[in-house]
Amino acid sequence: MQTLDKDEAVEQATFDQRISDEQKIEPTDWMPDDYRKNLIRQMSQHAHSEVIGMQPEGNWITRAPTLRRKAVLLSKVQDEAGHGLYLYSATESLGITRSQMIDALQSGKAKYASIFNYPTLTWADIGAIGWLVDGAAIVNQITLQRTSYGPYARAMVRICKEESFHQRQGYEIMTVLAHGTQVQKQMAQDAMNRNWWPSLMMFGPHDSESAHSSRSMGWKIKRMSNDDLRQKFIDQTVPQIEALGLDMPDPLIKWNEERGHYDSGEINWEEFYQVINGAGPCNYQRIKHHKAAHSEGEWVREAVRSYRQKQQDKKTENAA
Ligand SMILES: [Fe+2]
Ligand SMILES: [Fe+2]
Repeated sequence: MQTLDKDEAVEQATFDQRISDEQKIEPTDWMPDDYRKNLIRQMSQHAHSEVIGMQPEGNWITRAPTLRRKAVLLSKVQDEAGHGLYLYSATESLGITRSQMIDALQSGKAKYASIFNYPTLTWADIGAIGWLVDGAAIVNQITLQRTSYGPYARAMVRICKEESFHQRQGYEIMTVLAHGTQVQKQMAQDAMNRNWWPSLMMFGPHDSESAHSSRSMGWKIKRMSNDDLRQKFIDQTVPQIEALGLDMPDPLIKWNEERGHYDSGEINWEEFYQVINGAGPCNYQRIKHHKAAHSEGEWVREAVRSYRQKQQDKKTENAA
């Protein structure tokens, strides 16, 4: 255990009190190193997921079936870019730079949600992603509005509003397909079947296997456990599958009167760890594309640096 000097012990006690009083921790407040590190990991991982998540959907912008669908998808993908930028800025308030975070992503040191390493094979995937993936994200993010770090909690309030639009547009695509021709209905069923398990994986390993969970709960960074969040998502989604008239993606889904929840089958954890560790169908492609886009944007960063330098030179000149 870390030994603290007297000043630090006072700071630690103040911090603990604030956490227990449900007060937010702000960037200039003292915080334990591990709290800071844990937040940087979780928030940057969240930011990376928003940004990498633009790729599977961006894949369908030029092939959206109508002008309306295209406009909606475009603005949804732009929202995700905004979420990424918002979260990178919030993470920078903890003393890490954006380029350090990008380096960690591109070198494979930092993770992002493994669902984005699966391909979007048909237009129905756009429906299934909005409905299931953004739906799962909302369940998690709603609880994060009460996370203990102020900038993260505030970012979540706005992000959740936009996520609920994302979820609805996805569900609307699914509704149209599920009530369309036999082929369209089949397409909706197939996209749901493929995206169902990766969506459940978004909540992370079982609580008993989760390395960071219990500490994060103690610090009130996380407000609900992985398994409870996953159950909440299943409970709210099963009636939606029924309303769509689709077959269940998991034959073991069944209402459990005693528990007051739906039972369901076990996730393939081997697949989860494989994809997280880089062996998913699209991991290589996603990072390769990110690197290419990042290096194409170098001229923008160059222009910003040179503008800053000019401003600085002017200031020095005026002061002389
Ligand atoms: Fe988002
Ligand atoms: Fe979203």
